[in-house]
Amino acid sequence: MSIKINKIGVMTSGGDSPGMNAAIRAVVRTCAFHQINCVGIYRGYQGLIEGDFKQMNARSVNNIINKGGTILKSARSKEFRTKEGRITAYAKAKEEGLDALVVIGGDGSFTGAMVFSQQFDFPVMGIPGTIDNDIYGTSSTLGYDTALNTVVEAIDKIRDTASSHNRLFFVEVMGRDVGHIALNAGVGAGAEEILIPEEDLGKERLIESLKRSRLSGKSSSIVVVAEGDKTGENVFELKDYVEENLPEYEVRVSVLGHMQRGGSPSCWDRVLASRMGVKAVESLLEGKTNFMVGIKDTKMVLCPIEKAVKGETDINLELLRVSDIMTT
Ligand code: F6P
Repeated sequence: MSIKINKIGVMTSGGDSPGMNAAIRAVVRTCAFHQINCVGIYRGYQGLIEGDFKQMNARSVNNIINKGGTILKSARSKEFRTKEGRITAYAKAKEEGLDALVVIGGDGSFTGAMVFSQQFDFPVMGIPGTIDNDIYGTSSTLGYDTALNTVVEAIDKIRDTASSHNRLFFVEVMGRDVGHIALNAGVGAGAEEILIPEEDLGKERLIESLKRSRLSGKSSSIVVVAEGDKTGENVFELKDYVEENLPEYEVRVSVLGHMQRGGSPSCWDRVLASRMGVKAVESLLEGKTNFMVGIKDTKMVLCPIEKAVKGETDINLELLRVSDIMTT
């Protein structure tokens, strides 16, 4: 698959995350630095199918490093999941003269990239962009650090009202399949309990723990619950369960939702995005394809895209212990 790369298409796909714009900027400017063409593809794979392209140059990405969301827009294309959709996408890519694609997104987006490259022998390179941090092959995804800071700031505010009213709050955070946000933000915000999909400790343990915390003199508490946690059917059912079993508690629920995905990226995410964009383009120029760029021990690394798609991330169980000790 070693062909000379003269024109790279860049897209953002799946759920947006802070730092995607900084990554687009890095890809576009690295192309400009190496004097190759760069084309922005709007709305992810759907834009590829529809030929929704825009020629980019170094000035097209002025003043976006600090912006949340993605200037290229994002989508989850159903059509691209079909063989016919991908055939149309390939035809559009060829018509535009694209030699490679840089896909900024999560595992669904990388699955699309992998299938596309297998079907047409087309060079692809992934940049992990998702607040969930659930991609194998990198210790950090773009947007995760920003989302953690957003969540901690929100919980700090909830804590003010929780303690004023002596209330217990269940705060639901994003993480459809994983508990990275819940666990790290939970420790960072000093949560009483953290419920994550990876560790189902059961409702009884939650009740016991809340009883203990009352007896130890605490008058308000925060329980952080990952969206994908299975301790209760959902966070509202958990609230009902606690109210039934511990009537002394006045309970409220706060679902943080999509505000976690917005906002100006943190410095960490901006630097990571810049490094990943450079690595993605320069790796393609070196003839390396079908990888995802990642960070491991402060170094940029490449992980085969199939591994990134299939592998699972490990939850840091030590943090659960730290959290337990902190709630003494
Ligand atoms: O970006 C990943 C994620 O934040 C998940 O944690 C969440 O379940 C999902 O996106 C929700 O995304 P949407 O509302 O865009 O479908």
